[in-house]
Amino acid sequence: MEPEKFIEFLMSRRSIRRYKKDPVPVDLLLKLVEVARFAPSARNSQPWEFVLVVDQDVKRRLVSIYPWRQPLSEAPAGIVVLCDETKSPQFFMYDCANAVMYLMLAAHAYGLGTVWIGVGEKEKRMVQEIVHAPPNKIPIAIVAVGWPDEKPSPRPRKPVEEITHVNSYGVRP
Ligand SMILES: Cc1cc2nc3c(=O)[nH]c(=O)nc-3n(C[C@H](O)[C@H](O)[C@H](O)COP(=O)(O)O)c2cc1C
Repeated sequence: MEPEKFIEFLMSRRSIRRYKKDPVPVDLLLKLVEVARFAPSARNSQPWEFVLVVDQDVKRRLVSIYPWRQPLSEAPAGIVVLCDETKSPQFFMYDCANAVMYLMLAAHAYGLGTVWIGVGEKEKRMVQEIVHAPPNKIPIAIVAVGWPDEKPSPRPRKPVEEITHVNSYGVRP
């Protein structure tokens, strides 16, 4: 693949919060997991597991734990990303964040839209209960997945010069 094409692909991903009603086949969700497995992880610990949520009742229960209306209510599917802290005690969050990003990019490649829905301390236990995850499997994200029904403009990004230093903090490129 031409580098420019791949870079354009990376830069064209957007968080999608409006979805068509069409379902996403489980086989396609499995393909996303197949790709997510290739994310890097500390000592190749691969502390991630994925709960594909296609049962609308289970999805509704996940939606209900958030006080604000959020994209998962409209998305036909959600993927709960669980992370085993015992498998990568120092780095499990980073490991699993990498997997989420791979999964979201794979979805983008298939024309699917996604958005990361944060699972904070407050929601952690409730998510575990709803999907029957054991206590050591920490949910770090629910990825809403569906066919996009919007084309959002890019969110603003900080300029390179503002976030880059050369050799020493404060020395701008
Ligand atoms: C850790 C994390 C948590 C996020 N939580 C939410 C969320 O709860 N709800 C939501 O609508 N978007 C959430 N997002 C998506 C961000 O708002 C979005 O990625 C950011 O605004 C940049 O937009 P873009 O993804 O379209 O480039 C989250 C993203 C990350 C990385």
